[in-house]
Amino acid sequence: MCGIVAVIGSRDAAPLLLKGLKQLEYRGYDSAGLATVTTRDIPSTGSLICKRANGKLANLVEKVHSEGAPGQLGIGHTRWATHGKPEERNAHPHRDSSGSLAVVQNGIIENHSALRKALQLEGVKFASDTDTEVIPHLISRELNLLKSQGRIVNATLLLEAVRKVVSQLQGAYALAVVWQETPEALVVARKQAPLLIGLGEGEFLCASDTPALAGFTRTILPMEDGEVALLTPLGIELYDSQGHRQQRSPSFLHGLEDVVSKRNFRHFMLKEIYEQPETARLWVDRHLPLGLPEAVPVALPFENSFYEGIERIQILACGTSRHAAMVGAYLLEQFAGIPTTVFYASEFRYAPPPLAPNTLTIGVTQSGETADTLAALAMEKERREVYKHPDFLSRELGITNRAESSIARQVSNILDIGAGLEVGVAATKTFLAQLLSFYSLTLSFASRRKSRSLEEITSLINELRLLPKQLLVLVKQHDALAVTLAQRFSDTQNVIFLGRGINYPIALEGALKLKEISYIHAEGYPAGEMKHGPIALLERRVPVISIATPGVVFEKVLSNAQEAKARDAQLIGVAPEGLATEIFDALMPIPEVSEWISPLFSVIPMQLLSYHIAANRGLDIDQPRNLAKSVTVE
Ligand code: M6R
Repeated sequence: MCGIVAVIGSRDAAPLLLKGLKQLEYRGYDSAGLATVTTRDIPSTGSLICKRANGKLANLVEKVHSEGAPGQLGIGHTRWATHGKPEERNAHPHRDSSGSLAVVQNGIIENHSALRKALQLEGVKFASDTDTEVIPHLISRELNLLKSQGRIVNATLLLEAVRKVVSQLQGAYALAVVWQETPEALVVARKQAPLLIGLGEGEFLCASDTPALAGFTRTILPMEDGEVALLTPLGIELYDSQGHRQQRSPSFLHGLEDVVSKRNFRHFMLKEIYEQPETARLWVDRHLPLGLPEAVPVALPFENSFYEGIERIQILACGTSRHAAMVGAYLLEQFAGIPTTVFYASEFRYAPPPLAPNTLTIGVTQSGETADTLAALAMEKERREVYKHPDFLSRELGITNRAESSIARQVSNILDIGAGLEVGVAATKTFLAQLLSFYSLTLSFASRRKSRSLEEITSLINELRLLPKQLLVLVKQHDALAVTLAQRFSDTQNVIFLGRGINYPIALEGALKLKEISYIHAEGYPAGEMKHGPIALLERRVPVISIATPGVVFEKVLSNAQEAKARDAQLIGVAPEGLATEIFDALMPIPEVSEWISPLFSVIPMQLLSYHIAANRGLDIDQPRNLAKSVTVE
């Protein structure tokens, strides 16, 4: 949520900032802005230039190109509005009253009202409605105080002022500060919001996420919670929240190039849907290599102790990740026999269930940065530590697509879903990869606990090995089919998705995808629940998409579909061809596979139908309104 880029070095900052912001635009696109500081060897000595524009980044690019923004030090921001409407005056950077100091921030300053009131009493005039604007005014006040004590104006002074101010801030934030009186200094800080430093040759680029570093550097230093850093052309000074100097070795990033290009696809979302067979192939190669022993038929990066003594599992997640978790819970319970509960992370934080012993807590987040998921995991760990009982010790696992993200630093065991970077705001290939991770876990638990026979385990593994090839066919087939179906439904206002058992979460996911990118109202229901209320909505103009895959609830789902048809709803089936499918007005066929793996197929038509409906409606598919790819605020 909101993207930050900051750079200091020997090249012009503005092009680097704009390039970085382009890669972070998925984090928010309500407005964008940058501030640069000219260095002392440029005639307009040490001045701060600020350019901001409402709407997409392209508006800022145009402004910077026509008006210019010289200087080799700068900060940039792409905004997802929290406090204050998407208007230019609320766009970052925000400046102090003198206009000589600028700040970009990602997060929420929870005590901003109190700080704002105190500053206003001192005569400070605010120019925006944002929570962020208190920060430049506070830093400026601190700098004036230090200067009045006779302190020399230099980079260390700015660092000291920022450190004093961040200690007054409550909430989660990542921020970057520049001051025209110190054109050789960039100060950055983070608390519960991501920020990393990229180390180039004689230059540094800080960003809230790794894509901003594409083409700049692969050497990174992720900042830890509470840290503040001073960056100058000479190096980095990194301090923890107590002011102790930190020394850490940088790490190396892999696979940044594929981020940048849509190749020949119209949208990243379509490209990413098409990447799913490859996602599945990589997963099979990594986790189901041939030749593993029967007792441990899945390759996972965990010690035996990870699996021992677990009596129950709780999964914390949001949005699409929660839907993947629901499929995971079905598998873990029904296939591996472990009682498993899924929680909305945002609800769990404030109403957790009573502590239960020997519980594995799993956080699922593709971005690894979702504030609610991280906070829920942290809260669970803390309450278990406080309880201090050996049976209640915290046992945790993070399932993420970003092995370098905050969850990877917070949680002791990580399962990297390995989907490669996903740019489209609507999750597609990461959803499939999250599902696959749950198949690995389920198989691993089931074989170790012997909750399933060897034949059942082998049969599931063999089916999964066929997945990449089958998906290749399915994606192409449904891309073509969905174009026609989408024409029929582009003007639809309400859609109901029905599924049962392991496919109920896919009905939820189908509805979420449609809502997110086409802005059509859609609801997912367990098919058996329709008659308890939602059936009142049904009439000729309401399509019902029913997932009917052979298995324990197949006949039941077909009966529920008939009930919808009897109310004149247009009935679209996601089902294998030829199996009682004559009841559907239209069919989105999927292969006849075991019920266990059916979600991996039934989700594909959902993604493509939503995509083509949104495309028909001419919407901004990769950056749908009001959304952002990683939700780093509560
Ligand atoms: O990064 P996360 O997986 O934690 O994100 C959770 C949700 O914000 C995310 O799945 C959201 O629902 C997406 N827009 C889904 O397409």
